[in-house]
Amino acid sequence: MASSSPKAKAASRKNTVTLTDNSSGQSWEMPIIEGSTGPRVIDVRRLYSDTGFFTYDPGYTSTASCDSALTYIDGDEGILMHGGYAIEDLAEHSDYMEVCYLLLYGHLPTAAERRDFEKAITYHTMLHEQVMYFYRGFRRDSHPMAIMVGVVGALSAFYHDSTDISDPHQRMVASHRLVAKMPTIAAMAYKYSIGQPFVYPRNDLSFAANFLHMIFAVPAEEYKVSPSLARAMDRIFILHADHEQNASTSTVRIAGSSGANPFACIAAGIASLWGPAHGGANEAVLKMLQEIGSKERIPEFLKRAKDKDDPFRLMGFGHRVYKNYDPRAAVLRKSCHEVLEELNHQDEPLLDLAMALEKIALEDDYFVKRKLFPNVDFYSGIILQAMGFPTSMFTVLFALARTVGWVAQWKEMIEDPDHRISRPRQLYIGKTKREFVPIERR
Ligand code: SDX
Repeated sequence: MASSSPKAKAASRKNTVTLTDNSSGQSWEMPIIEGSTGPRVIDVRRLYSDTGFFTYDPGYTSTASCDSALTYIDGDEGILMHGGYAIEDLAEHSDYMEVCYLLLYGHLPTAAERRDFEKAITYHTMLHEQVMYFYRGFRRDSHPMAIMVGVVGALSAFYHDSTDISDPHQRMVASHRLVAKMPTIAAMAYKYSIGQPFVYPRNDLSFAANFLHMIFAVPAEEYKVSPSLARAMDRIFILHADHEQNASTSTVRIAGSSGANPFACIAAGIASLWGPAHGGANEAVLKMLQEIGSKERIPEFLKRAKDKDDPFRLMGFGHRVYKNYDPRAAVLRKSCHEVLEELNHQDEPLLDLAMALEKIALEDDYFVKRKLFPNVDFYSGIILQAMGFPTSMFTVLFALARTVGWVAQWKEMIEDPDHRISRPRQLYIGKTKREFVPIERR
């Protein structure tokens, strides 16, 4: 049966590369697979069985772990697209619910599709009432990401009816539940940390407005969500929705490849995102800017960032894929000014410092030579802090927004008839066989 998948295209193409082992003179032909755009791949699935060689690529700098139709990144050109739509267009003209639909269903929704989808998400925003008892087991000063990992991992204990991954209906229900409940879980983690009562979701508010309401409302008075802040929040969610096979998404895919339930897989993704080299960078950027404190100290910190003996890195700079300006950072940089103006923070010293740091770094040979540009995390924290979020919540917001990407990537993998358990090999450098010596003779 004809299929448009890259695998099918490989079968119809005769392009190959030849691998020659110069020590034995043996050669092998390996097929090239071409996607719809971007780098071609050498299909090495038979390499070990045919040649006895493994490939070696720690950090996966040159490895395509799967084929996917969800998100395309061109790191040299600074391009990010979801389903063929440029992130700049989606951020400007779409909203997070539409981007969720696009990632889950492969096309932008019609008005009717959008209405039905938004209703499905809205009616899944509440949590089982027992879930709130998990929060009481945490210290009030627990990092909210620790709470997110624990509570999301526990959801499979409550939603058994959407853990059979072989059932398309259950896969979609689990997807809707995860996208819908993350804001509620995140807001509860915040409220718990400040000793305020949980605020239930409201069905009359949009996704972003509902989240802001659950974060900032208190029972003692009515809280009116600012439409422009809700729009800014929604745009931040769009910019963080999905990003190809990054560390946390790859974690979700590997966890899912064993057949683990989707709630457990997303909890694994949250844990991976927490690292300061990944989603934890937005929190680290704010702490770095606060540590730098003034423009006069920028040279001192740039010197540290270049010093190989100093673990300090310029947080919010550099990216495995982008060797150009991260298109999301460009949108956030612009949004920064709009939000700060709306909040009367025009003279936000941290933004001035960030822009001065960016300017100096982008003219510095060390950063230019290594193509280190601001990434999505460089400006997001400044906006989030201005909106009233504590730095400890920044990565939680990243996880909230990225859940739809994780879920869409997980679903795409499960629905790939060729998918198998992910089980990389290794280059063994340990001891070769040696005799066991009893302790009295050691
Ligand atoms: C995210 O993958 C994704 O798509 C992630 C993400 C997503 O949406 O999912 O985009 C989200 O995680 C963004 C990245 C957020 N992390 C940070 O801002 C932390 C700071 N950045 C670095 O830790 C680093 O740039 C990484 C982790 C992002 C990328 O690391 P790589 O690709 O392994 O690059 P590298 O460490 O090999 O660096 C190459 C060179 C090295 O110097 P040399 O050995 O060549 O002399 O660049 C240097 C590095 O020392 N370098 C930096 C630097 N980043 C890289 N030097 C100073 N400051 C930095 N930030």
